[in-house]
Amino acid sequence: MNESPAIDVRDLTKVFGRFTAVDRISFAVAPGDIFGFLGPNGAGKSTTIRMLCGLLASTSGTALVGGYDINREPDRVRQRIGYMSQRFSLYRDLTVAENLAFFGGVYGLSRGALRDRAADVLRLAGLSGIESARTGTLSGAIQQRLALACAILHAPPILFLDEPTSGVDPVSRRAFWELIQDLAARGTTVLITTHFLDEAEFCAHIGLISAGRLVALDTPAAVKSGVAEDVFELQVDDLFSSAERLKGIPSILGTACFGPRLHAYCPRGAATEQSLTATLGAAGIPVTALHSVPMSLEDAFMRLVAPAAALPGSPV
Ligand SMILES: Nc1ncnc2c1ncn2[C@@H]1O[C@H](COP(=O)(O)OP(=O)(O)OP(=O)(O)O)[C@@H](O)[C@H]1O
Ligand SMILES: [Mg+2]
Repeated sequence: MNESPAIDVRDLTKVFGRFTAVDRISFAVAPGDIFGFLGPNGAGKSTTIRMLCGLLASTSGTALVGGYDINREPDRVRQRIGYMSQRFSLYRDLTVAENLAFFGGVYGLSRGALRDRAADVLRLAGLSGIESARTGTLSGAIQQRLALACAILHAPPILFLDEPTSGVDPVSRRAFWELIQDLAARGTTVLITTHFLDEAEFCAHIGLISAGRLVALDTPAAVKSGVAEDVFELQVDDLFSSAERLKGIPSILGTACFGPRLHAYCPRGAATEQSLTATLGAAGIPVTALHSVPMSLEDAFMRLVAPAAALPGSPV
């Protein structure tokens, strides 16, 4: 990274009582990058974002956001960021225009600046013409776009989006990502959390957090290749009993259900389709089909997150 990072996180830690929610995490995000921050429920994503937004003091460690220290200069940090919280904080009883005016007030925009910026962000978010609609009557996808419009009203160079696509249909999710990519192409740095691994592929870099610790940090391709295991996809009659029995095979490190199929993970190079078929045959485990498949991001995450946090086949 030649230029200074837009977000520079150094040993950031948050302890609540005796519980360490975020445990010495460090990473940097280059200006204009989209950084995906992924991990299971309760991993520490929102807590990290709240610290990076200057809303929650860290217990130890720190971060520079837009060049300012989150603990020593939280006001300056807040001026440079947009934040879309996990449950979008829109006022349902207010109209679209009134919500924008409220956030304009929070960000200290003058009346003229608000008028200009509101028109810009509504156009960008594809919301022009619905200014007088009551927010609570709008669909989830439109509310999501309005929340984003409010978060970028003051043209922040850095944007934190905490699960912005939860509860939004696939077509709207894709359209929302086009918006985010458009913002990044214009130079906005974006840190986004999501449980949808297909969305992680849109990110230049990803960080995977599990039980407060960063367990992977790289491009999506490098995170996949960094797991030194081969994946075999198995078609079996009884998914759950087969998964149990596969656990007893020494060359199989673990399994996960992927829809109607099972994925079995073996140390890299330790097994082939032929050798594994023979091993399972000898163990009396009936398998209809067995193929070597490339490691997907979902596979990688299954193998990287703390086992207690991973549910078979579920998104992180
Ligand atoms: N104010 C608090 N006091 C005590 N514990 C807290 C507090 N805020 C968060 N936690 C705990 O810290 C852990 C991390 O929570 P956090 O909300 O950061 O997770 P998350 O990764 O955003 O999860 P999700 O995907 O469900 O949104 C959780 O166990 C949560 O219960
Ligand atoms: Mg969260």
